[in-house]
Amino acid sequence: MPLHGSFYPPGDKSISHRLVLFALAAKGNCLISHLSGCADVISSLAIYRRLGGKTENTADGLLIKGLGGDIASGPVDLNCGNSGTTIRLLCGILAGLKGEFTLDGDDMLRKRPMVRVTEPLKRMGAQIDGCLPPVRIRGSFLHAIDYNSPLASAQVKSAILLAGLKGDGLTVYREPVTSRNHTEILLRECGAELKIKENVISIVPGDIQLPAKFTVPGDASGAAFFLSAAAFIPGSDVTALNVSLNPGRIGFLSVLQRMGAGVDIVAQDCAPEAQGRVRVFYNGPLKAACINSEEIPALVDEVPILALVAAHARGTSIFRQVSELKVKEINRLAALHQQLGALGADIKIDGDDLLITGTGNSLQARKDILALDSFRDHRMAMTLALAVKAAGVVLPVKDARSAVISYPDFFSDLNLLWHD
Ligand code: S3P
Repeated sequence: MPLHGSFYPPGDKSISHRLVLFALAAKGNCLISHLSGCADVISSLAIYRRLGGKTENTADGLLIKGLGGDIASGPVDLNCGNSGTTIRLLCGILAGLKGEFTLDGDDMLRKRPMVRVTEPLKRMGAQIDGCLPPVRIRGSFLHAIDYNSPLASAQVKSAILLAGLKGDGLTVYREPVTSRNHTEILLRECGAELKIKENVISIVPGDIQLPAKFTVPGDASGAAFFLSAAAFIPGSDVTALNVSLNPGRIGFLSVLQRMGAGVDIVAQDCAPEAQGRVRVFYNGPLKAACINSEEIPALVDEVPILALVAAHARGTSIFRQVSELKVKEINRLAALHQQLGALGADIKIDGDDLLITGTGNSLQARKDILALDSFRDHRMAMTLALAVKAAGVVLPVKDARSAVISYPDFFSDLNLLWHD
């Protein structure tokens, strides 16, 4: 059965986190419209409030008050829940503020690497400990650094730039491939002095001030589930409205296009974050694609749903250098291998590459399979929910509700778009 119609994805999760967390360090008030109501952003909001933040619901959105660094100094225990963005950005913000903080999260977050953030922060003079959560921070004076990051990670970049605001000179951050730039965009909106030259970002220390208003575009990573499914389900035609068109987030659209899907993008006049309308429609059988390592940061969260698309395309698709997926909410490479494999997909992990061979036909669940498992990973939950729908099988997906981590209305939007 095809997917048909238009939908508004939730507010972008990455941008929503930044608006809430920047309010700890920045002065001024910001009226945020379309802030994501997902569980991860609720974790960031709860921490902002625990540190003394105040919000007000208005007809036009949430009014958030900037604390300008004047936060509860603790010692305070902060629960980041399942959210890697919350814990990593907070490390950068709190390292240079006064107080003692313990940052922890759920059992999944406790398995996620923190050294990528704590190591460069230590070089800046931060008093921070913990290779895995819980991470302990005692705020201190920070030095500027020139950091050559081995990872293309927006979370690491954000932590260092935010700490750089408290440095004693120009902090320079170099990344191997450009990662999403929401932090740079919002820092500039907050009046920070940034120089950006390709993959080198420099920040001058100083105070920041929230913009008076900010409209959060729809989450491209959420929209990607329905848009990608429309690419391989015959007869489908789906439009995401008011969705982010930030180039660092829509790498999946060029992959869908290369595979042969119909893709129309109409930009709206919107600043500072690009936004518009994206239509994806079934345009005949798809062919396999090779996704090289430089493309990965702009689609890192879309690999699970693109893997499902690849399983429906003819030929072998290769996702090169996707080892970062091993340290997301769960090891997504292993989960994809196991769960899409259970649905009959030909899927292999070769070192850090993911290879999927499709025949162009729909997937057929193995006879011995009674249920699929999302392992409580939101992106696995949404991928598998679409996989069983597309396969036309009635198979439960364990912990499918984990979709609320990033997309609270995923299942109602699925019902809206799916026409039995
Ligand atoms: C995010 C960055 C990405 C992404 C995550 C959100 C962000 O992680 O996977 O879902 O908001 O900065 P890395 O860039 O650290 O890999």
